[in-house]
Amino acid sequence: MALITVARKSQIANGKMLGVEAGGRKLLLANVGGTVYALDAVCSHMGGDLTKGRFESGIVICPRHGAQYDVKTGTVVKNVGFAGKALTAGRGASGQQTFKVVMDGDDVKVEV
Ligand code: FES
Repeated sequence: MALITVARKSQIANGKMLGVEAGGRKLLLANVGGTVYALDAVCSHMGGDLTKGRFESGIVICPRHGAQYDVKTGTVVKNVGFAGKALTAGRGASGQQTFKVVMDGDDVKVEV
């Protein structure tokens, strides 16, 4: 595991998110109430890019089939609907890996 500087906190206003890359992975940084969280930006369902999704009240919504994840824990709070599952052989979302975030002044560092 390495602690990698990926952004400045001033780049991510409260209620906003930012896509970054670290350790060969695409990550999503999300600011919830002044705290920055990091999770895998590639949707566990079918690889949708969560950085292109909507972000509301600590929940990111995948732009492909609508799975919703809590950015603090990576857990699925709403899975893909019937139509999304029908299009993907019954497959559902399983959750996103999260990563430890360390603040160092304005630097946002992620352990990957
Ligand atoms: S790829 Fe994200 S919900 Fe299907």
